Amino acid sequence: MSNNHQEAYKELIKRSREVHLIGSCASVLHWDEQTNMPPAGSEYRAEQSAYLAGLAHSKAVDPKIGELLDVLEKSPYMNDEYSDEAVNTREIRHEYDKEVKIPQELVEEITRVTTISQAVWIEARKENDFKKFLPHLEKVIKLNLQVAEHLGYKKEPYDALLDNYEPGATTESTGKVFDGFRSELVDLVKAIGESSKKPNMAIIEQNYPVDRQKLFGQSASAAIGYSFQAGRLDISAHPFTTGLGPKDTRITTRYNPNHLGQAFFGTMHESGHGIYDQGLDEAHHGTPRGDSVSLGIHESQSRMWENLVGRGKAFWKHFFPRAQQMFPENLSNVSLDDFYFAINDVRPSLIRVEADEVTYNLHILLRFEMERSFLRGEVAAKDIPEAWNEKFKSYFGITPPTDADGCMQDIHWPAGYIGYFPTYTLGNLYAAQFFAKAKDDIRYLEDQFAVGNFSELFQWLRSNIHVHGKKYRAEKLVEVVTGKPLSHKPAMDYLRQKFGELYDLK
Ligand code: CO
Repeated sequence: MSNNHQEAYKELIKRSREVHLIGSCASVLHWDEQTNMPPAGSEYRAEQSAYLAGLAHSKAVDPKIGELLDVLEKSPYMNDEYSDEAVNTREIRHEYDKEVKIPQELVEEITRVTTISQAVWIEARKENDFKKFLPHLEKVIKLNLQVAEHLGYKKEPYDALLDNYEPGATTESTGKVFDGFRSELVDLVKAIGESSKKPNMAIIEQNYPVDRQKLFGQSASAAIGYSFQAGRLDISAHPFTTGLGPKDTRITTRYNPNHLGQAFFGTMHESGHGIYDQGLDEAHHGTPRGDSVSLGIHESQSRMWENLVGRGKAFWKHFFPRAQQMFPENLSNVSLDDFYFAINDVRPSLIRVEADEVTYNLHILLRFEMERSFLRGEVAAKDIPEAWNEKFKSYFGITPPTDADGCMQDIHWPAGYIGYFPTYTLGNLYAAQFFAKAKDDIRYLEDQFAVGNFSELFQWLRSNIHVHGKKYRAEKLVEVVTGKPLSHKPAMDYLRQKFGELYDLK
């Protein structure tokens, strides 16, 4: 039986593809639900989605998969830890263990509790009544701790939860990078706040016809490399990207008739996610080797195109004359410099999802620290508002006037997602480190942007990141691509340089 492991591998891949196939059907339903479905269809859609989720779960926890993994883990495939076979074995094991370690009753309890807590949260937020939300938040925290116990962790429960969203990341290493980032970031935000230079926001905050916003966003999306042959752009209340199959990755955005930036940068963001999914290796479709690395790496791709490219001066050297042509009533008397400043406005604000490129990260660092301390039991759930406001004041210089605009603003906790937030800032840090390396590797990169050429950066991302799938964990990928471990320095250098110029800082 010398070919035992080859047979086992074939069988494992067949099963992985089947689970993935079911998941992709569920994604089609979800896309439809968010973009086209009539409201009355929601009840039956919930039944369809639950059926597919149950089917996928039952296939994914089949003990046969455990047996196949046991065979493969002792096979010669493991001699090279980055061979396709070893990578798929490692990652399918990671998923399988997660699926089987958490008891079915706990999964059902979490679904029940978070369904109720989200409904209560919507009301509690409207009424600014944290006490109403508190008992549900307490349950969510307790259940998350139970999940962590079942999954197991090295140092603290938060490790297990973080690993759910960013495989391989630990609280300690993430905390170290974030700590370095925080103090420098707080100083930068303060310096920007004290600068007397302020952009004229009326430039982008005025009526921009939606039909033309749509054309303009689409043209930018296509220019940076998102393929409309294998994708499409639709409207949804909450913008998202979904990969439905090897040649079908869809993105959505939403239009504000009184703001140019929201849909445009939203489209750039989702295009970055879409370009990543479109660049995954089709030969490995339905297996980890053909799947994205992590939420953080996914976010690095969206943030790179949205911010490092899309909010850059070079990008607008090319696109601003086109914006003026598209929106002559709005922009014909505006200079490139004034426009560029308006799309890069930085100011402390209460709401994370509306935050700019600089302050956004402080919102995330605060949430990461809050989660860490309530999971460790250092802050009781009932004391979260006070702890939140205190931190907020020290980072942003302002105190949230209400809990609704403070610790109750995000859906993550009511939905049960503890450990998710750090992936946003990890995404920004990865993006800055990748981009700095791309600028080293590609001569005159930003001069290319200025003439509308984005293909070299696109190809660089394809060959350095997209085609690898899950070959490397995020931490390792950063080292392989940039030659250095993750650091806050490239992000800080980038922010200081860009906003130092804009705000005349010393
Ligand atoms: Co994103």
